[in-house]
Amino acid sequence: MKIAVFAGDGIGPEVTREAVRVLEALALPGLELIEGDVGGAAYKRHGHPLPQATLDIARECDAILFGAVGDPDCDNLERSLRPEQAILGLRKAMGFFANLRPARVFAGLEDFSALRPEVAGAIDLLIVRELNGDVYFGEKGIRKLEDGRRQGWDMMSYAEDEVRRIAHVGFKAAQGRAKPGEKGKLCSVDKANVLETSQLWRDVMIEVSADYPDVELSHMYVDNAAMQLVRNPGQFDVIVTGNLFGDILSDQASMCVGSIGLLASASLSEGTSGLYEPIHGSAPDIAGKGLANPMATILSAAMLLRHSLGFEAQAARIEAAVAKTLADGIRGGDLGGSFGTAAIGDAVLERL
Ligand code: IPM
Ligand code: MG
Repeated sequence: MKIAVFAGDGIGPEVTREAVRVLEALALPGLELIEGDVGGAAYKRHGHPLPQATLDIARECDAILFGAVGDPDCDNLERSLRPEQAILGLRKAMGFFANLRPARVFAGLEDFSALRPEVAGAIDLLIVRELNGDVYFGEKGIRKLEDGRRQGWDMMSYAEDEVRRIAHVGFKAAQGRAKPGEKGKLCSVDKANVLETSQLWRDVMIEVSADYPDVELSHMYVDNAAMQLVRNPGQFDVIVTGNLFGDILSDQASMCVGSIGLLASASLSEGTSGLYEPIHGSAPDIAGKGLANPMATILSAAMLLRHSLGFEAQAARIEAAVAKTLADGIRGGDLGGSFGTAAIGDAVLERL
């Protein structure tokens, strides 16, 4: 079993280091970790945010543990050389089309939410976001109109097979999370009152729902979903949506939870391979200071063990160790605490 470790920029290396310590502590037989460069760090060394050597490592490994990319030094580079291209390029090249972003409030941390504690406490949802299509990957450009004005344009589109495969991921996730004896709950978010792309999205969701009689499908317009997420987030279980809407709603959901340093994510392909990363960014302002909370990356490593390597018990052990660490009052600066990156790593390891 090979895991690629792409630490990236900013706080990426320090948070990834703690997750690697946790993986190593499990002493899984035959586990090999292979490091590669991504993002601004890769650009500075190799002239590209996603060098060929890194892609080769990604292809050779069973899964990728990813830190963060983003570097203010690279802000003025042309788009194709910016650090973000590493993550967009890996998603496309590796066929990581399904992004799972669970959001729930850890017991005792309700006060950190931007929402009232009793509203926040009810959050336990999963956003399933499509990652390979939509306006992100359509043709785009800035062109001159006949009258000389410049016009920026980005083409939004979804083919039905792209919608169908993410629909199946959403329905299966809803099935898996259903309480015994109850139906699963899947809410598909679109903008079908305005966009043709969304109309097709909705039609395909309805078609696919025929295969999942044990899941209740609902639909919501994205503007309403944004409102409902802050009004009554407890109503959601699984949300399935496109690339752009999912990008926005998942950041919003993370603030409803309150602690961006605790949320993990998985980006999955049709096989078992996947990329696992904290949802926070590279936080250049605190990079290298040992202040970042590594829990989101540690929890991402747990998702990696579960989804790509089939180590459910070990994943659950890591999650329990993180929950216990938090319950024992060990908190990073993101949660008003004073524990640094390595100290939090130590605390999780002790409990593990
Ligand atoms: C995310 C990020 C990326 C995205 C950026 C870094 C390209 O915001 O993973 O949500 O927009 O998908
Ligand atoms: Mg985002």
